[in-house]
Amino acid sequence: MLQSADLRERFLSFFEAHGHTRVPSDSLIPSGDPTVLFTSAGMNQFKDCFLGKRTDLKRAASCQKCLRTGDLDKVGKTPSHHSFFEMLGNFSFGDYFKEEAIEWAWEFLTGTLDYAGKRPSPQKRLCLDLPPERLWVSVYEDDDEALRCWQKLGMPTSRIKRFGQADNFWPSNAPKEGPNGPCGPCSEIYYDPEGKVQGPNSVEVWNLVFTQYDRQSDGTLKPLPKPNIDTGMGLERLARIIYDMPTDYETELFIQLMEAVNGLGLRGGAQREDSLYAQRAIADHMRAIVFLISEGLLPSNESRGYVLRLLIRRAYRLGLRVLAVEPETEGRNQVPGGEMIQRMHPKAFLYRLVDAVRNGMQGSPYTPELMARYEHVMQVLSQEESQFAGTLQAGESRLRVLLEALKREQQRILPGEKVFELYDTYGFPIELTVDIAGEEGLQVDRRGFERAFGAQQKRSRSASQFSGGVFVTDTLPIRQAIPSLLPKEQLFVGYEGLQVDAVIQGLWDGKEWVTQAAAGQSVGIVLDRSPFYGEAGGQVGDVGTIDGPRGSADVQQTTWADDVLVHRASVRAGSLSVQDAVRAQVDPERRLKVARSHTAAHMLHWALRKVLGPEAVQAGSFVEAERVRFDFSSLQ
Ligand code: SER
Repeated sequence: MLQSADLRERFLSFFEAHGHTRVPSDSLIPSGDPTVLFTSAGMNQFKDCFLGKRTDLKRAASCQKCLRTGDLDKVGKTPSHHSFFEMLGNFSFGDYFKEEAIEWAWEFLTGTLDYAGKRPSPQKRLCLDLPPERLWVSVYEDDDEALRCWQKLGMPTSRIKRFGQADNFWPSNAPKEGPNGPCGPCSEIYYDPEGKVQGPNSVEVWNLVFTQYDRQSDGTLKPLPKPNIDTGMGLERLARIIYDMPTDYETELFIQLMEAVNGLGLRGGAQREDSLYAQRAIADHMRAIVFLISEGLLPSNESRGYVLRLLIRRAYRLGLRVLAVEPETEGRNQVPGGEMIQRMHPKAFLYRLVDAVRNGMQGSPYTPELMARYEHVMQVLSQEESQFAGTLQAGESRLRVLLEALKREQQRILPGEKVFELYDTYGFPIELTVDIAGEEGLQVDRRGFERAFGAQQKRSRSASQFSGGVFVTDTLPIRQAIPSLLPKEQLFVGYEGLQVDAVIQGLWDGKEWVTQAAAGQSVGIVLDRSPFYGEAGGQVGDVGTIDGPRGSADVQQTTWADDVLVHRASVRAGSLSVQDAVRAQVDPERRLKVARSHTAAHMLHWALRKVLGPEAVQAGSFVEAERVRFDFSSLQ
């Protein structure tokens, strides 16, 4: 039986034999293309070759790790929708075109040079042995050239279908809707286990894209100087056809992982009917999660990190609810293979699948990266799971109360403000609200959610109120109120000394500008110049004192607002008034401590790069007097 490792190897060797350079997979986080979040196809890393900006390659073949998040709700419900998958592809950059692309695809799949099988391939040992009568193809409705290429191989016309731009253009519908950039008609090869054309069990195996246009912003299809070939064949689907399985999840790529997922549910008692769907979705998401963390991504609330967080949360919730997994409450857990991982976080369980993901990738080119980051992946994952467990508990009980109330009132839609409340107060992701409400047969008012979300952002921008001390937002229009203030660069004079004589220009009491602040009052003090460092670039602001002729204040924090330094202070004795001549004094001991922490952050960054390599990238930091937080990602 062919293993998936053999499939990868045969494909790449076959195209090497046809003059292609074997190119390693790019990372899921694209190395050279900031315009996309994730690598979603084999062609991504070759964009510059297609556009003629890079000319060192003529032919390439790769097995590319891909991530697509457009169809997450279908994952697990269909035989072969995935978030993470591998794409086998061969590419021509202004070199060969339709005829060779079609002939070689046929040769690789069937091991013959014609439909009738009279001319065996000279590379037969590298080819697969699919029966020609189970294959049928489609071409773009206007693409007679592609049609003729198939006919030349002897493919009966009844097995060639013409489809429109939704099916047979890549990207789909590009002429009508975009995106701009390289695109073209395509020809797809389908496999049908019963040999039917357009049968219900037909599987789309291979997409041959004839990239001949560069779509412009006005919608015109500008012919590329030299036409290209971009093909893509999902490894998981190919494996499923070769093994003759009903879904990708029964192939050797998934089998161990599916067993491990199934094992999670055993202690939890009876499983629900939809558990097969849940098992598949968890298996799918776990592969994406493990690869993303291995590449150095950390869960967060933004962009790529948010996608990772979402995948973890979906998988976690499915495990908990559908498979009734009982997470361990203690922070010591056993992983398959017997190792005891200390410091694993309570309530985590997905991390126990990391090993099975790794095993499913045996013989793949990714084994070294998965081995090297194994512990790191488990730590990051279990920590995120544990944190989510808390959120989930509070948010879900609130959601249940809301859903019950709606059902009692025979309502079918969860109002947007409620969804927003769950998001804002409980950190409960909207995707989960949609999922849980859906399970109860209710819909979610997404537009209402977006309205509430927008309104809150507006509120928080204009808010200016007390919250403990003086709450100053960075949008407070200080310069309008005090037009005489110097430009930003001249306000901070802290490099000259820690003590400066200044004049009070403004006093903000949290609601309005006032002329005087008395003992016990919280106040934002604006000076004409100041030695206080304002919080910026991940370093806390200075603290200290401001002493005037009739009173003094303790500065608890210094921030920038409207490009002006604001000293958040409380008046200790007497009173301070606008136009008072004051002495502003930074607490020297604390400044020194912060300076030391700042140096420590630099040293830590330097050391991380030295030990882990130049890929150790700073992802954020916060420097305080007693503490330095340093976020980084690394590929080690
Ligand atoms: N780029 C095409 C696809 O993603 C073929 O590789 O289907």
